[in-house]
Amino acid sequence: MEADLQKRKENKKSLRVKVISMGDAEVGKSCIIKRYCEKRFVPKYLATIGIDYGVTKVQVRDREIKVNIFDMAGHPFFYEVRNEFYKDTQGVILVYDVSQKESFESLDAWLTEMKQEIGPHGSLDTSVFAVCANKIDCGKRRIVDESEGRLWAESKGFYYFETSAQSGEGINEMFQAFFSAIADMCENGGKRPATAVNVGFTKEQADAIRRIRNSKDSWDMLGVKPGVTRDEVNKAYRKLAVLLHPDKCVAPGSEDAFKAVVNARTMLLKNIK
Ligand code: GTP
Ligand code: MG
Repeated sequence: MEADLQKRKENKKSLRVKVISMGDAEVGKSCIIKRYCEKRFVPKYLATIGIDYGVTKVQVRDREIKVNIFDMAGHPFFYEVRNEFYKDTQGVILVYDVSQKESFESLDAWLTEMKQEIGPHGSLDTSVFAVCANKIDCGKRRIVDESEGRLWAESKGFYYFETSAQSGEGINEMFQAFFSAIADMCENGGKRPATAVNVGFTKEQADAIRRIRNSKDSWDMLGVKPGVTRDEVNKAYRKLAVLLHPDKCVAPGSEDAFKAVVNARTMLLKNIK
C-alpha cells in the first residue's frame, strides 16, 4: 500500500515529454541542443541525417521532466524521414539564422509541414513553440532584426528568444522558459494556456507593421495610389498613426513603423499641391 502510494505520488511529479527541432538546414538546431546538453559548440557543420535522438532530464519546480528530443534534419531531402515525428509533440524549437533571410521566411512553411503531418485532428495549440533567432553573434551580417522576428513569433502566441549556440547567449534562458511552459501546459490538461505569451497587440497592428516594412515606396506605405489628394493622404496617415502610435501600440517594431509613416506622409505632401 505504502509503496503504491509513493509510486503514485512520484508519477504525478514526473513527466515525460517529446520535443522536436524544426527549421532550415544549417540554422543551428543541433548546435543549440548540443550547447544545452553538452555545454559545447562545434564550428564544423555536420548535417543531421534524418533525425537525431537524445534524452535529458530537467527539473521544473517540484517536477522532474524526462525530455525526449528529436532533432530533425532541415534539408528538404529528409522530408520522408522526419514527417513521422511531428505527432504527439509537446514542444517545438523553431530555429532560423538571423543572417539568412530565407531561413526566417521559411518559418511559415515549417508550420505548414507540421500541420499537414499532424492531420486535421491534430492542433498546434497542444505544443509550446520557442522561436530561436540564432547566430546573434554574427554582428554586421545580421539581416533579420529583433522586432521582425519577435513580431512574427508573438503574433502567433509563440515564445521568442535571441540565441547564439556559439557563445551560449540566450540558450539556458530559452530552455528554462520552454520547459517551464511545457510543464504549465501539461498541468493545464495538455492545451497551451491562452496567456502563455501575453500578446499585447492586435493582428491588425502586426499586419500593418509587416506591410509597412515590406512596402516599396511612400505611396505603398500609406496604402494610397499616386494622384490622390492631400486629404486622402492625411486620412490614410491618420488611420495608421492611430493604429501604431507608440503610446498605444506595444507590438515589436511599432516605433519604427510609426516613424516611417510620418516620413512617408511628409514626402507625399511635399509633392501634392
Ligand atoms: P541540419 O542538421 O542540416 O538541419 O542543420 P542544423 O540546423 O542542425 O545546423 P547545425 O547545428 O549543424 O549548425 C550549422 C552550422 O552553423 C555549423 O557550422 C555550426 O557551427 C554553425 N552554427 C550553429 N549555431 C551557431 C551560432 O549560434 N553562431 C554561429 N556563428 N554559428 C553557428
Ligand atoms: Mg542538425
